[in-house]
Amino acid sequence: MLFKQIMKLLFLLNPYQGYNFKKDTTHLLMLEAKRRGHSVYYGTPEGLLLEGASPYSLVQPVHPLEAAPYFRFIGPKKKKSLSDFDQIWMRQDPPWDLNYYIATLILSQVRSKTLIINAPRALRDWNEKIAILSFPNFIAPTIVSSSLPTLIEFWHSQKEGVILKPLNSFGGQGVSRLKPFSQVSQRIATATLKKMTAGSVPIMAQKFLKEVHEGEKRVFLWHGKILGALKKIPPPRQYLTSPDLGGSLARTGLTAREKKLSLAVSRRLTSEGILFAGLDLIGGFLTEINVTSPGLLWELNELYGESFEKKIWDSF
Ligand SMILES: Nc1ncnc2c1ncn2[C@@H]1O[C@H](COP(=O)(O)OP(=O)(O)O)[C@@H](O)[C@H]1O
Ligand SMILES: [Mg+2]
Repeated sequence: MLFKQIMKLLFLLNPYQGYNFKKDTTHLLMLEAKRRGHSVYYGTPEGLLLEGASPYSLVQPVHPLEAAPYFRFIGPKKKKSLSDFDQIWMRQDPPWDLNYYIATLILSQVRSKTLIINAPRALRDWNEKIAILSFPNFIAPTIVSSSLPTLIEFWHSQKEGVILKPLNSFGGQGVSRLKPFSQVSQRIATATLKKMTAGSVPIMAQKFLKEVHEGEKRVFLWHGKILGALKKIPPPRQYLTSPDLGGSLARTGLTAREKKLSLAVSRRLTSEGILFAGLDLIGGFLTEINVTSPGLLWELNELYGESFEKKIWDSF
């Protein structure tokens, strides 16, 4: 029989009040870890601290439950050395801000064999939007800039119009579309760009991919492999696919090109210490690499009648 080691696991999450536990990817991971007999601890990035160069966190042992109240804490919050854990799952949601950056710096002080998912250096380096630029063969025309003339020139070069994205957001929040310049006045376009860049904040402008109306694929990557995929379909005549904004979900296959793309990205991400990631693909193009706290695993399970988190824990 295969010997499976019992592990001590820390999950760093947003404060858990307000979670939709029923559909939460991290909660699924915690439940399965507990079923396998691992010790599960809960903490928030605010509880991270350094004493000299030694990293600690305020943590609480927790028993994740399948039904409300979803968490039963076993004992009070205690300060523990991060090096005591076998694994630390950094699962804080964006926005990626100064506090997030500092949390990754503290995690980078861990000197033991502790596996941090995803690697803190990669969480610093791999901005979820800009990361696609590492894969020039797989992306649609894209620029990043805060300069209005540059953004307007790019918009004029794209006959389908462009999509504009803030660089630290998620779930379609703050995203705008500029229709082709024959359909939109320069005044309205300039006002949109001014608002989004607030004068000096760089944003991403990308060719508008009309295939988005057929759906955006989410490919789940784990440890260099494709764990599964689903499709997010926007409401009729809309282009935002997020389920929180009315998008619906369906099973999906992947084309040969999409598989090749996903595996190439996955290999590179694994080499950077990004073990768990979610790719967004539109019309066969890579549009986002979610690394901070990829979600939708619960929805993937529901669509396929499987428990994909088991495959994650099987790999340890
Ligand atoms: N190039 C594009 N063409 C058309 N729609 C897009 C494009 N890129 C993104 N979108 C739409 O905008 C949404 C948000 O973009 P995305 O880059 O995935 O950022 P996030 O999911 O972090 O908000 C997508 O879910 C999709 O609906
Ligand atoms: Mg996305």
